Amino acid sequence: MDIIGHRLDSPRRLYAFEELILLPGLARMSPREITTEVQLGDLTLNAPFLSSPMDTVTEAKMAIAVASNGGLGVIHRNCTVEEAAAMVREVKKAPADSGNKMAVRDRKGRLAVGAGISPLDTERAVALAEEADLLVSDVASSYNVKVIEGAKKVIKATGKKIVIGNLGTRQGVLHTIKELGAENVAAVRVGMGSGSICTTTDVSGVGSPVPFATEQAALALSELHLLDKIPIIADGGLRHTRDIAFSFCLGASLAMLGNLFARCDESPGERMTKDGKRYKVYWGMGSAEARKKRLAVDRYQETKGKDVNEGIKMTVPIEGTAAEVIERLLAELKITIGYIGARNIKEMREVAEFAVRTAKEPKEGS
Ligand code: XMP
Repeated sequence: MDIIGHRLDSPRRLYAFEELILLPGLARMSPREITTEVQLGDLTLNAPFLSSPMDTVTEAKMAIAVASNGGLGVIHRNCTVEEAAAMVREVKKAPADSGNKMAVRDRKGRLAVGAGISPLDTERAVALAEEADLLVSDVASSYNVKVIEGAKKVIKATGKKIVIGNLGTRQGVLHTIKELGAENVAAVRVGMGSGSICTTTDVSGVGSPVPFATEQAALALSELHLLDKIPIIADGGLRHTRDIAFSFCLGASLAMLGNLFARCDESPGERMTKDGKRYKVYWGMGSAEARKKRLAVDRYQETKGKDVNEGIKMTVPIEGTAAEVIERLLAELKITIGYIGARNIKEMREVAEFAVRTAKEPKEGS
């Protein structure tokens, strides 16, 4: 038997976004000349943002707003197949302002939309495959033999590439791509337990924060010479443009946002007003509230009898429209791109130089 007893001799050091800083590079362009286009499957996104498939973030209204402004909305799956299909159709029927250069469209000129699926539910994937532009695996951890077998069935039954995830390690990405075939993977969605409403890591002690998960995926894809072919979607805990920029410098080219889009006018969910300020509920898909519907409980591992919640409910202020949020994120992102000496998102990972700093002193009054 192998000797057990050296598990903690050289544990990995995982960094939080707050501990990282980018060093300035020779700036060659003004933010106005910088481009933020990225490729995702057959789609070209003008803004590298996806709204999370969560029932307090993305239904048709949000998906229309996000696609109209250059990103992609991913419809949640905590609903019946018919309801999800109806939401996808609603996006497809939405009038797309033909003068809007930001809008992301399908080949027929209609707004693009993604749909959250479970690799364990071929029926839903098949029902949505025709109309949705992107099928996005929506399970807490896809590094799971049943999920991988399910994903193979989904790919076969739909004849489509899928976004696989969530993943958090180099080994997980290598294994998944080997099993599914690179040609069947539209993107990898990375990060586990780092979302603002996540308690997976608190409950289980297991997780892969986005900076680490992104770097691990980039390593795996580089080894396979696929970094330019399969994009990485950083997902969970991205609250500031800085977090998005760091993820791109570590190898991602798209950011999936739950909390930031939940704060927009177009998100679904109960609203309230307090002292003249507007708020709404935002909850994790593994929270007791989301689980009540029982339609997406296979996002998490099955337990017999007692449900183990892996998410919480919170209240967030409404901060404006999705258009306003995207515009702000893009403007700030272009500033980072400029300062580090890159010209576009792809170049960020080529030129980025990180340093580690101790956590910032809290500003007075905060
Ligand atoms: P943010 O930080 O943007 O994160 O709010 C959104 C992402 O969190 C994931 N997600 C969960 N993770 N328990 C979890 O551990 C949950 O209940 C839960 N709900 C969503 C998901 O990847 C989402 O995009």
